[in-house]
Amino acid sequence: MKLKKMIGASVMSVCLLAPGAGVYTGLSVQAATTTASTTVKSADTDLPNVKILATGGTIAGSSASNTDTTDYNAGELGVETLIKAVPEMKKLADVSGEQIVNVGSPEINNDILLKLGKRINTLLASDDVDGIVVTHGTDTLEETAYFLNLVVKSTKPVVVVGAMRPATAISADGPMNLYNAVKLAANPYAKKKGVMVAFNDRIGAARYITKTNTTALDTFKSLEQGYLGGFAGESVYFSSILTKKHTTQTAFDISKIEKLPQVDILYSYQNEGRYLVDAAVEAGAKGLVVAGSGNGSMSSIAREGVKDATEEGVAVVRSTRTGSGVVTHSPSDDKDGLVSADSLNPQKARILLMLTLTKTSDPKKIQQYFDKY
Ligand code: SIN
Repeated sequence: MKLKKMIGASVMSVCLLAPGAGVYTGLSVQAATTTASTTVKSADTDLPNVKILATGGTIAGSSASNTDTTDYNAGELGVETLIKAVPEMKKLADVSGEQIVNVGSPEINNDILLKLGKRINTLLASDDVDGIVVTHGTDTLEETAYFLNLVVKSTKPVVVVGAMRPATAISADGPMNLYNAVKLAANPYAKKKGVMVAFNDRIGAARYITKTNTTALDTFKSLEQGYLGGFAGESVYFSSILTKKHTTQTAFDISKIEKLPQVDILYSYQNEGRYLVDAAVEAGAKGLVVAGSGNGSMSSIAREGVKDATEEGVAVVRSTRTGSGVVTHSPSDDKDGLVSADSLNPQKARILLMLTLTKTSDPKKIQQYFDKY
């Protein structure tokens, strides 16, 4: 996509943070657009092409009551309905849709992740696609976003979006979130930023963004690094860059992967025994992530359990149940063959460990991936 196309496309202003320099430059452009048609296909053939891949979730949820924001069915409406609900998107891009699955996001599994990642790589390899938007349930959105951040092999924008209120609710947040996501995916300055999450007027890096609240609209927070930017009126602004490796910079190639290894998460608590560790190993786990207390701690008996697991070749990563912060690496991790998660929460540490186990089972090498990604 050429910049000229975007200039002809819509009203926008873009702020750029020059990497390392902390210097802002600005670009503001305006152009007339037409909005009369109810279709999303624009008459302007120079607009960027954005593909919406729909997976379900609340953004596609519906209820008989317009005040129901908790007991609706997620994953009910198809992608064409979502697109038709926001005809204003035709100012921004030529938008087309594809239904990958239509489920609540707790149903997203490894097979769906692989299918989605492969489809995105195929689409972005084509000159006909300039950006991707993935619609997704919010409950596990960060896991899919981080998976894509590690496996997409393109510098073109990939934006994951959802909603906290179903499409049928008063003040549903989905349409504006979707509009903003398309705006971001169509923006030439959104390239090379890793996979992004557009939610509630903010842009978060998939590496850092996390769901922090069960029901609130501002549930997605970027805790350890802050947001990449946001939306204000018709503007997209960027204020920081992701320093961790992502997309084209990672070692992962899913084109030949048919199945990801089983990695389970174990939550630490007082009076914790080792039987859940043993049960996970018995059930075939190739990796375990411990959602440890504080800085990744666990009871001594659970620690004995995970140490025994490592001796059986199971990779074990210490993360934290605290919700924020970095789990630091200590000499005892090296002695016991454990990996520390840096600032990855347990659910994202699981995603990275699954992918890492397709390359190595050596804890020292796994640690290097956790340090960089
Ligand atoms: C889901 O994750 O599919 C349900 C919740 C949501 O989308 O907000």
